[in-house]
Amino acid sequence: MKIGIIGAGNIGGNLTRRLTALGHDVSVANSRGPHTLQELAAETGATPVRAEEAARGAEVVVITVPLKAVPDLPPGLLKEAADGVAVIDTNNYYPAQRDGRISGIEDEGLTESRWVERQIGHPVIKAFNGTYAQDILDRHRPVGAPDRIALPVAGDDENAKAKVRALIEDLGFDTVDAGTIDDSWRQQPDTPVYGLRGGVTEVERALAEAKRDR
Ligand SMILES: NC(=O)c1ccc[n+]([C@@H]2O[C@H](COP(=O)([O-])OP(=O)(O)OC[C@H]3O[C@@H](n4cnc5c(N)ncnc54)[C@H](OP(=O)(O)O)[C@@H]3O)[C@@H](O)[C@H]2O)c1
Repeated sequence: MKIGIIGAGNIGGNLTRRLTALGHDVSVANSRGPHTLQELAAETGATPVRAEEAARGAEVVVITVPLKAVPDLPPGLLKEAADGVAVIDTNNYYPAQRDGRISGIEDEGLTESRWVERQIGHPVIKAFNGTYAQDILDRHRPVGAPDRIALPVAGDDENAKAKVRALIEDLGFDTVDAGTIDDSWRQQPDTPVYGLRGGVTEVERALAEAKRDR
């Protein structure tokens, strides 16, 4: 599958490593330009590109940048993506440490991913936001392994969600349907599922136990 990854840090870098290892055709971008991604390209076989080009022809696009950088992404980012592209949003809101105050989240009460959708003008699937970057490399397991962990996946577009869940399952993780983007506060930072390394039942329980009083 053709996959575009925007953000080549902890999460974007490790997704590039694993998705290329599975044989996907990965384009990867950061803010400084493709010349700064030569090492990652040599290691993985991914194609380093400018952010404007990352989604070209892609069936899946991953946005994995500091949340405050989302409004700086190029306009029309997804214009040349494949029809029905699934956009994965891995991002989290850290107002004090990194992102500053975002009014749409604080005042309007939007979930973090709903706010991302408004910035990019496209629906997203929320996944990997509570997954330690290193676990993408170290904790993948075959189907049925007793220590295979499960990741919550939220989104409104059922086709896109199914595509993303299948990809995550290929990457070596079970998935749990965590509902819609309006439900996705249940997997934001400080919830029981955030950072949880558990199987399907534990993830389902943690999602159900989330309290909306962050
Ligand atoms: N670290 C984790 O374990 C973890 C786990 C789950 C979720 N997350 C979330 O996932 C997101 C990414 O986290 P991370 O730890 O991977 O971040 P990171 O290591 O700081 O990497 C951020 C990446 O985004 C790129 N970037 C920044 N602004 C950009 C722009 N305008 N256009 C294109 N690329 C841009 C940076 O490029 P340059 O280096 O060129 O500036 C860098 O490659 C965050 O929202 C984070 O909260 C992180």
